[in-house]
Amino acid sequence: MGKSSENRLKIALAGLGTVGVGVLDLLRDNADLLARRCGRGIEVVAVSARSRNKPRGGHDLSALQWFDDPVAMAREADIDVLVELIGGEDGPARAAVEAALQRGVHVVTANKALLAHHGVALARLAEANGVALNFEAAVAGGIPIVKMMRESIAGNTVKRVYGILNGTCNYILTKMEEEGREFGDVLKEAQELGYAEADPTFDIGGWDAAHKLAILTALAFGCEIAMDDVYVEGIENVTLDDIRYARGLGYRIKLLAVAVDTGEGVEQRVHPTLVPVGSPIAEVNGVFNAVEVRGDFVDDVMLEGRGAGAHPTASSVVADIADIARGVRVPPLGLPVERLRPYERARMRAHHGGYYVAMNLWDKPGEVAAIAQAFADEGISIESIVQKGESITRSVPLREHEREQPTAPFILITHDTQEGAMRAALARIEAEGHCAGSPRMIRIERFR
Ligand code: HSE
Repeated sequence: MGKSSENRLKIALAGLGTVGVGVLDLLRDNADLLARRCGRGIEVVAVSARSRNKPRGGHDLSALQWFDDPVAMAREADIDVLVELIGGEDGPARAAVEAALQRGVHVVTANKALLAHHGVALARLAEANGVALNFEAAVAGGIPIVKMMRESIAGNTVKRVYGILNGTCNYILTKMEEEGREFGDVLKEAQELGYAEADPTFDIGGWDAAHKLAILTALAFGCEIAMDDVYVEGIENVTLDDIRYARGLGYRIKLLAVAVDTGEGVEQRVHPTLVPVGSPIAEVNGVFNAVEVRGDFVDDVMLEGRGAGAHPTASSVVADIADIARGVRVPPLGLPVERLRPYERARMRAHHGGYYVAMNLWDKPGEVAAIAQAFADEGISIESIVQKGESITRSVPLREHEREQPTAPFILITHDTQEGAMRAALARIEAEGHCAGSPRMIRIERFR
């Protein structure tokens, strides 16, 4: 056996789906380049997948050691690194990662659900066993945001991080706006392109972005991971009408993930958000993700790139493997687990900002005045109003008895206000019966 062969980094790959095949592609296509950069070869020696017989991008895996059980592979295979691409917060993914760490095998994972729920315990296990736990691919696909947070801005106090963290949702919202297509139709396309999770409700319900945000929050503020504290709203109820009206008023709708250290605790939220057209975040389209971090010395840094898909995600997985091959070691959460500060939730979780409101107003005298009064009484200032002739029944579902009476779509944008005041005004408008169905609101962020 030659010296370079003895020196090679031996990898076990658990999970051979979209990303797994992407990793095999990269390790094959750029093998020489990686060996030159890392000073040693990187070789997949063992694999585990549910089916042995699926076509896997033309890769011949017959010479590799096969395991039906990824946990057995983590325990028994002669490897340096376990790459976990199975997914899921518990089950075989968690068991395999724990087994590898316990026996002193490095772990690279793309599993955001696992980290969001068990990241602190896994980081502790990695530290106790003196091995790496790297997870660049778990947050924002191909964007090197974990490395940036753990290493590049280590000298900064971070006060805020926000971004577009789900490629599937951003793809859907972009295609709905650009092509006037319906939600379900575009979701199917995103699944075919390999962007969506195995269960796409994780994407469209905002949970995938929430997992990623919970991880980013810990890296940003040096605190424990608090997935249960993320406020989550998905994009299921965003309609083509909302997208069109928002656009007409100078905004785009994005699924934003936001974490802020308020000084009195941390606020974490994921929800559809109107962002001004022309702002950098509004111009992040399709499968692209972006993350902006504000540090006290560096000021704002924004990274943008593909947030999903086989090759961009593989790029992040392999970067983590390359760090291990080179001997680069950083505590998984940016600082040793024992030095993480306990997570403290912000006392007030009220969003302060502008709001988009859509309702089906009864088309008769005095209704607009009543709406204006309800907002005025809550101290809310209206920035712009649109009243159109045609109904927005798709935005605001009507009750049976309401369908016969004339209504007009009424859209407005408010200046910055408190969420409590907005909720009170909308509750009053509904209770007083000024509109058919319930008024709807979407938050606006202007990020000053
Ligand atoms: N389903 C995820 C997305 C893949 O759409 O962003 C990357 O985590």
